[in-house]
Amino acid sequence: MNRFYITTPIYYVNAEPHLGHAYSTVMADIQNRFHRLTGDETFFLTGTDEHGDKIVQAAEKLGISPREYTDKISGKFRETWPLLNIRYDRFIRTTDPEHIKTVQLALQKVYDRGDIEFREYEGIYCFGCERFLIERELVDGKCPDHKVEPTHLKEKNYFFLMSRYQDWLIDHIKKNPGFITPERYKNEVLSFLKEPLDDLCISRPVSRLTWGVPLPFDRDFVTYVWFDALINYLTGLDYPDGERFEKFWPVANHIIAKDILKPHGIYWPCMLRSLGLEPYQKLHVHGYWKTRDEKMSKSLGNIVRPGWLVEKFGTDATRYCLAREMVFGLDAGFSESAFVTRINADLANDLGNLLSRSLTMLFKYRKGIIPEKHGMKGPHQDLEKAAAELAQPWDSAMRDFQVHLALSETWKVVNIANKVIDQSAPWELARDESKKDLLDDVLYSLLETLRLSAVLISPVMPSSAEKILSALGLEPARELCTEGMTFGRLKPGIQTSKVKALFPRIGPSKKEAKAMADKEKKAGVQARTKKKKSGEQSGKEPEGNGLITIDDFAKVELRAAEIVAAEPHPNADRLLKLTVMAPEERTIVAGIAEHFKPDGLVGRKVVVVANLKPVKLRGIESKGMLLVAKDSNGLHLLSVPADTEPGSRIS
Ligand code: ME8
Repeated sequence: MNRFYITTPIYYVNAEPHLGHAYSTVMADIQNRFHRLTGDETFFLTGTDEHGDKIVQAAEKLGISPREYTDKISGKFRETWPLLNIRYDRFIRTTDPEHIKTVQLALQKVYDRGDIEFREYEGIYCFGCERFLIERELVDGKCPDHKVEPTHLKEKNYFFLMSRYQDWLIDHIKKNPGFITPERYKNEVLSFLKEPLDDLCISRPVSRLTWGVPLPFDRDFVTYVWFDALINYLTGLDYPDGERFEKFWPVANHIIAKDILKPHGIYWPCMLRSLGLEPYQKLHVHGYWKTRDEKMSKSLGNIVRPGWLVEKFGTDATRYCLAREMVFGLDAGFSESAFVTRINADLANDLGNLLSRSLTMLFKYRKGIIPEKHGMKGPHQDLEKAAAELAQPWDSAMRDFQVHLALSETWKVVNIANKVIDQSAPWELARDESKKDLLDDVLYSLLETLRLSAVLISPVMPSSAEKILSALGLEPARELCTEGMTFGRLKPGIQTSKVKALFPRIGPSKKEAKAMADKEKKAGVQARTKKKKSGEQSGKEPEGNGLITIDDFAKVELRAAEIVAAEPHPNADRLLKLTVMAPEERTIVAGIAEHFKPDGLVGRKVVVVANLKPVKLRGIESKGMLLVAKDSNGLHLLSVPADTEPGSRIS
C-alpha cells in the first residue's frame, strides 16, 4: 500500500488565523483527501507554534500570561479548521510535553555529534522573523517581510553548524529534482546555497527569554523558533520509536508559503542529516495571497478571516475558490468579486445547472431512473470520450499540487456535458418514440459525467460531492475510491432523487446592495428637488422626459433562457405556456399564441425578464416575461446566439 504524509506549517499564535493560513491548510486537506481517494494510507498533521519573543510580547499586550494567551489563540485555529471541513489526524502544539521531549532529544543528538557550538555573535536581528538577518537581505534598511528596521544584538549563544552540510544539500537537491517544487523555489534555494552558509543561532539566554524549550545540555538557555518548530514534523509521528514514524517519514510532504522557504529548504534538511535521518520527500511551496498588492499578514493588518468567507460563500465554495483562484506557486490577489464570479459561473451555472437540468429531464422523461445504455451515435459520444480520458490528466495535476489545473480539466468536461444537452435537445428526442434509445444514452452520459465529476471534485468539495452522489442514488462511501474514477460505472435502474440548488447563486454583497440603495435614494431626492424647483406639483414621481437612469435599468434582470417545452394554454387561445431554463426551470405564460407555433419555439435561446413578480394568468403561474420586437409584420422573438449558456445575465 502506498503511503502519504502531509503537513502544514505550524502557525504562530501571535494572531488569529487568516486566509493565508486557510489556504495552506485547505491545500493539505485536499491532498490528504486525494491520496485517500486513490487508496493510500495517509497522515495529516497541522498545529501551532507557541514559543518565542513574539508570543511573549503579544501576551504582554493583553496583560495575560503566555500560557493563557497560547491556549486562547491556538484554540482559534482549532475552531477555524472544522469550518473549512479540514480533517487532520493530529494537531500539534509546540508547548505539548511530548513535543518538548522530542526537541530535547533531537538537540542532544545533534550536540553529541558535535554539530552545536557555543560562541559570541553580533548582528542584526528581526523579531518578526525571529532570526539574525544578513545586510543584503534588507530592503531600504528594513526587513522586507515585516517592514521594520532590525535590532542590533550581541550575545553568547549556541549555534548549529549548518555549513557542514552545505555540499551534501546541494548534491541532494540536484539529484532529486522533485525535492523542492515548483522549480522556481528549488532554483531559489540553490542560488542561496551558492554563498557560504552561516551557522544557525538556535538559543536565547534565559535572562532574555524563558518562553522556550530548555537546552538539555545547558539550562541557562532555551531554544525556540526553528529548532523547536521544525521538529514538530517528527513529534507528529511519535519519533523516534513510533510505528507511525517508520511508516510515514519516508513519504513526508511539507506545504509552506515562500516566506519560510529558507528554514524548510535549508535548515531542515541539514538538521535531519545531522540527526542521521533521511530528508523529507518533498517540499511544496506556494505564493502569497495579497490584498492591495501586499502580502496578507497579521502585522500589516490587511487580512481576510476564514470564518467570514465561510459565512458568505459556504464551506465548499470557499475551498473551491481557494484552490481554483491561486496557481500553486504564484501569488494571487484576493478579491471578493472574483470569488463571487467564480462561484456563480463555475458552481451555480456550470456544475449546479448540469445537475439540475439533467435530473429534471431524467424525472420528466424516465421517472428519475437511470436508463440503460444502447451505444447510439450522437454528440454524447464526444462527452463520453472526454470524460473517460479525464482521470489521467486530473490525477497527474493533483499529484503535482496543481489543483487549479485538475479543476479546470474537470470543468472542461462539465461544459461539454452542458453543450451536449443543447446539441442533442432531449426535449425533442422525448417527443419521438423512435429516438427513445438515443435519449437513454444522452441521459446516461450526462448522469455518468456527473457521477465521475463528483468523485473528482470530492477532495476539494467533499460535501457537495456527497450530495451529488446521493442524488444519483449512490452511496458516497462506496463511490469515493479508485474504481469510482473510471467512466461507465453507473448502473442502470437506480432511482435518483431531486436536489435543491446545490450552489445558490450569490447576489451583490450587503455593502454593494446598500451602496446601490443609497444611490437610488439620492437620485430620488435629486429628482424631487429638481421638480420642486421647477414648480411641478409634488406627490407624484417625476416623469422626466421619458429617460431612465442606469440604476432604473439595473433593476430589470434580463437573462438568456432556453425554451425546453411549449404548449397552448388550456384556458386561453392567445396564451402559450412555456417551460424555460434560465438557468433553473420556470414557467412563463406569454401572449404570443397568434404569432408562434409551440413546436417552433422549443430549443430557441431567448431573452427573458427574470425578476418579475410571479402572476397567475388564467390559472397558471407565470414567472417572467419573454422579450419580443413588434413591427408591422408581427412579433419577432429576441434571441441570443445558440452557444449562450441559459441563465447568462444580459447587461
Ligand atoms: O512562519 N499567503 O508561522 P506563520 C499565503 N511558525 N500563505 C500565507 C500567508 C499569505 N499571505 N500568510 C501566512 C510561521 N501564510 C512559523 C512556521 S513551521 C515549522 C513554523 C501561511 O503563522 C503560509 O503557509 O507566520 C506561511 O508559510 C505560513 O502561513 C506562515 O505562518
